Amino acid sequence: MPAFDLSHWSRARLSQVEQALSEWVVDDAPAALGDAMRYAVLDGGKRLRPLLVLAASEAVGGNPAAALRAACAVELIHAYSLVHDDMPCMDNDVMRRGKPTVHVKYGQAQALLAGDALQALAFELLTPDDPAIDASIQAGLCRLLAKAAGHDGMAGGQAIDLASVGLNLTEKQLREMHKRKTGALLQGSVMMGAACGQLSAVAQSALQSYGAAVGLAFQVVDDILDVTADSATLGKTAGKDAAQDKPTFVSLLGLERSRDHAQELLAQAQASLRESGLADTTALEALARMVVNRDS
Ligand code: IPE
Ligand code: IPE
Ligand code: MG
Ligand code: MG
Ligand code: MG
Repeated sequence: MPAFDLSHWSRARLSQVEQALSEWVVDDAPAALGDAMRYAVLDGGKRLRPLLVLAASEAVGGNPAAALRAACAVELIHAYSLVHDDMPCMDNDVMRRGKPTVHVKYGQAQALLAGDALQALAFELLTPDDPAIDASIQAGLCRLLAKAAGHDGMAGGQAIDLASVGLNLTEKQLREMHKRKTGALLQGSVMMGAACGQLSAVAQSALQSYGAAVGLAFQVVDDILDVTADSATLGKTAGKDAAQDKPTFVSLLGLERSRDHAQELLAQAQASLRESGLADTTALEALARMVVNRDS
């Protein structure tokens, strides 16, 4: 069998996602709010979460229209989380995706509102007046995204992150923080893709485990790259975690063990896919490898 080419697989899907985002994130919101929203979402980002949604949906034979909406919705939540994460009251960053952050370009109030509006738009995208997407699928997608983004997921993890500055967390506490602040939305992406189709209880639970492993691995690698990569490659300021005294996998375990841990998580993700019983998980497998072996 020829080797799976992830960049070839991604190309058409990424262009579909870009086109849909550009269409759905309008620029005519009042008082230039739309400009800040489009600036936050378009022209940048790896779009990993949309790709996970689409790969999971394809693995279960999901409804493509629902999957495209879910892919865009999760990216809007992610973009909103970055806008707020960069604000002076949080990480106080001036560069994101190779550009000045939204609050630097548009001011703090507009950045706050752009984040708020992107979050609302995500749920609007999931609930179209379209009989081609069953109401039960729409409701399921909303529930998964709300859980992943809220107090039990990203927002809760961000609260732990801010409350942990200068503290020595245990590995268990660090894992808990990362699981929420980053892992939840990545796992949510996988489960939203899966919710666009039908799957067995075994596959459901295998994809949950895959999503948890990939989600945690993603933040372990983010912590590593903050130390090892430069700002130009990352498109965001490198070295911020140590400068802000944030507990990270690198500060707790060191680089070597953090890298090993990311590889262990990759092996767990791959094992989960093998246990899923799904016929074709090649794209999900390749995405897990990309998460762990990426350099930006
Ligand atoms: C960065 O996420 C923020 C974290 C959750 C660690 P990404 O590395 O996916 O950022 P983009 O979307 O590619 O800019
Ligand atoms: C952010 O984690 C996670 C979010 C929920 C946005 P980081 O603060 O480490 O993300 P970067 O390094 O700024 O992208
Ligand atoms: Mg942060
Ligand atoms: Mg940050
Ligand atoms: Mg980081």
